[in-house]
Amino acid sequence: MKLLLLGSNGQLGQAFLHQLLQLQQQRSQFQSLALSRNQLDITDSVALAAQMAAYRPDIVLNCAAYTAVDKAEQQADACFAVNSSAVQQLATLCQQHNSLLVQFSTDYVFAGTRAQPYTEQQATAPLNVYGHSKHSAEQAIQAVCSKYLIFRSSWLFSEYGHNFYRTMLRLAQQQLAAAEQSPAQPLSVVNDQFGCPTYAGDLAAIVLQLLQRYQQQGSLAYGVYHLAGQPAISWYQFAKAIFANQQPAITIVPVSSANYAGAATRPANSALDCTKFCDTFGIAPPQWQAALQQLKQATL
Ligand SMILES: NC(=O)c1ccc[n+]([C@@H]2O[C@H](COP(=O)([O-])OP(=O)(O)OC[C@H]3O[C@@H](n4cnc5c(N)ncnc54)[C@H](OP(=O)(O)O)[C@@H]3O)[C@@H](O)[C@H]2O)c1
Repeated sequence: MKLLLLGSNGQLGQAFLHQLLQLQQQRSQFQSLALSRNQLDITDSVALAAQMAAYRPDIVLNCAAYTAVDKAEQQADACFAVNSSAVQQLATLCQQHNSLLVQFSTDYVFAGTRAQPYTEQQATAPLNVYGHSKHSAEQAIQAVCSKYLIFRSSWLFSEYGHNFYRTMLRLAQQQLAAAEQSPAQPLSVVNDQFGCPTYAGDLAAIVLQLLQRYQQQGSLAYGVYHLAGQPAISWYQFAKAIFANQQPAITIVPVSSANYAGAATRPANSALDCTKFCDTFGIAPPQWQAALQQLKQATL
């Protein structure tokens, strides 16, 4: 089976690349072509159509996205071009070529006002431009494609790219360096936004496990699924877990999101309920604590 990976230089793209290489070494039946933005800009409709026609993938893994949530408030056109219009064209091309489209969406399609985690049945109501653009892509795919898997995930962290884990490590280094000169400022972390940290490597591994089934069975239960790390926590609790047992100790203080000057409004509770995924495929959602432990051992 031929697999086309788009946005291969991003956080999730690199996690897939890494695991696809491992599968290749195990003589997997996947033949893959991974393209970064430099190699294929998905907003270039001519280039995208030409690539799909030339490679004729059985599976398209779309990891390309505009993910700068705050910047998107000022750059809505650029955000929608990548996250919505290009995905609409990609969905049309996948339908034409009978390719399975695997798309990654977000907890930010929800308003975050529920006390309980969100299931796929709950109404969407994005609060920011990024969330609207990703929601619009979901709708376009469902309107056009017959073979699609949309995985809503959240709070991705990994050794790659920009993410909360790496930001915390960088700020902690700055805090420790500053402490040599004068009393260091503690790290302020939001304690009133709740979600599901998800290790990008876990997400990639589970999706590839499903795609191996697709390869064997020729179909899967297509649809929209929540697939995110469990259990849900706040950003502050996540930061505490990142720095647990770290020496020298890092000082973190919990703050309200009212004190955090981001341009985009974020949901207060966008925890995702993964029961549908688990019941449909018999695969448990990833546990972020175990992944974080391994990542810390590998990177700290
Ligand atoms: N990160 C999260 O916490 C999170 C949470 C929920 C869902 N998701 C979804 O998960 C997916 C992967 O996210 P991620 O964290 O891996 O994001 P990321 O690290 O920002 O990677 C996105 C990749 O897309 C590329 N890209 C941007 N515009 C493009 C274009 N026009 N054509 C081709 N490639 C383009 C970027 O290129 P450059 O490297 O050149 O910038 C980057 O390599 C996205 O669909 C995102 O919406 C992410």
